[in-house]
Amino acid sequence: MTPGVQVADLIREDRVSSALYTDPELFELEMDRIFHRTWVWVAHESELPRAGDFRTAYVGRQPVIVSRDRRGGINVLVNRCRHRGASLCEVPKGNANGFTCPYHAWSYALDGKLRGIPYPDGYEDVLEKKDLGLQRLKVGVYAGMIFASFDADIEPLEDFLGGARLWIDRFMKQGAGYPIKVQGEHRFRFRGNWKIQLENTTDGYHFPIVHRSWMASVDAETAGMLSFMTDDNAVTHSLGNGHSVMVMVPEHVDLDEDDGTEQLQARFGHVIEELSRDFEPAKVRRIVRSMHGAGFNLNLFPNVAMSMSFFRVLRPVSVAETEIRHLALGLKGGPETVNRERLRIHEHFQGPFGFGSPDDSEAWDRVQRGVAAGPDMPILVNRGLQRERKADNGDRVSHATDETGMREGYAMWKAMMTDAH
Ligand code: FES
Ligand SMILES: [Fe+2]
Repeated sequence: MTPGVQVADLIREDRVSSALYTDPELFELEMDRIFHRTWVWVAHESELPRAGDFRTAYVGRQPVIVSRDRRGGINVLVNRCRHRGASLCEVPKGNANGFTCPYHAWSYALDGKLRGIPYPDGYEDVLEKKDLGLQRLKVGVYAGMIFASFDADIEPLEDFLGGARLWIDRFMKQGAGYPIKVQGEHRFRFRGNWKIQLENTTDGYHFPIVHRSWMASVDAETAGMLSFMTDDNAVTHSLGNGHSVMVMVPEHVDLDEDDGTEQLQARFGHVIEELSRDFEPAKVRRIVRSMHGAGFNLNLFPNVAMSMSFFRVLRPVSVAETEIRHLALGLKGGPETVNRERLRIHEHFQGPFGFGSPDDSEAWDRVQRGVAAGPDMPILVNRGLQRERKADNGDRVSHATDETGMREGYAMWKAMMTDAH
């Protein structure tokens, strides 16, 4: 950082310095003051249904293992051996009795306890096994979403989520009576700062521009459903603590509410036909109306978006590199034909060969290439500032194409980075 410049000077309500994307010192500070002090999303419960199931994840740059132990408890453990620090587990997911270090075979239970040390006579009187379990993070679960924190004294997860809880509950209604499950994931990296991605999920403004080719590739009903640019009911709410929600399909905000006027999309004709063999018309309608997921993108600071029908999880790798995981969601125990259709919709937009995400990541790369030229030009986040209004509960509300969600995220960023939160 330039000597004499304070973090607070880099950010105003309507703009941020591009140093936020390029300064390695700021990145280090973010790892410490944001990722190590808040609740970070690590997994969804459906990824760990059985005892012994685990998946690996990251909290900031720290690799962690999320495991389900024999008593059904969920543990988030730092993925570093207590002997000389080797990583214990390098596969994305699996089922195990415990974790054994590849270097000298210290072995740990699913809850992180140090269980075994080969040739233990060399450690007599110099080592207490009970003191050398894997480092455990604090764990919080809300609606199947598993979060972890390095801060043992952090506020309860429910308080941190605050106003976002209502929207998480609404998001889960896309299960149409079935619990939500992760159907699969893919991951990719882009050459840009993590906050470029954080902004993107609440950026309705780019949608018809960057996603023109996607719009042109879908049926007219789907394109019409996502033509929210001039729809006054398409709004963004700030939800506090950096969280926000951007509503793109207002009639799908609460999928339990149905006034019966919406036509089911012709593209799902084959699904309707198949489901109608087993289900009442009302149930078929409920499932099919939820096929595209919820009608909104919910952005949870700092690292997960619940975006219509998938989770987008970001991991800061370095100041100019970010890994993204896209987790496609389906209905646990639900009709196979529905889960298959949902996967196809997901692939069509978010997949590696999809018509959506590759275009997004090109735009993110370009932002980073642009800001690399120097910090003299600020990043504007002022769209819709003049038309923001306060809702009764204090949320700031504006149009879905406005930058209210980004302003909320950056307000939290500033509060955490300056120790005001
Ligand atoms: S580094 Fe893990 S057992 Fe030695
Ligand atoms: Fe996009």
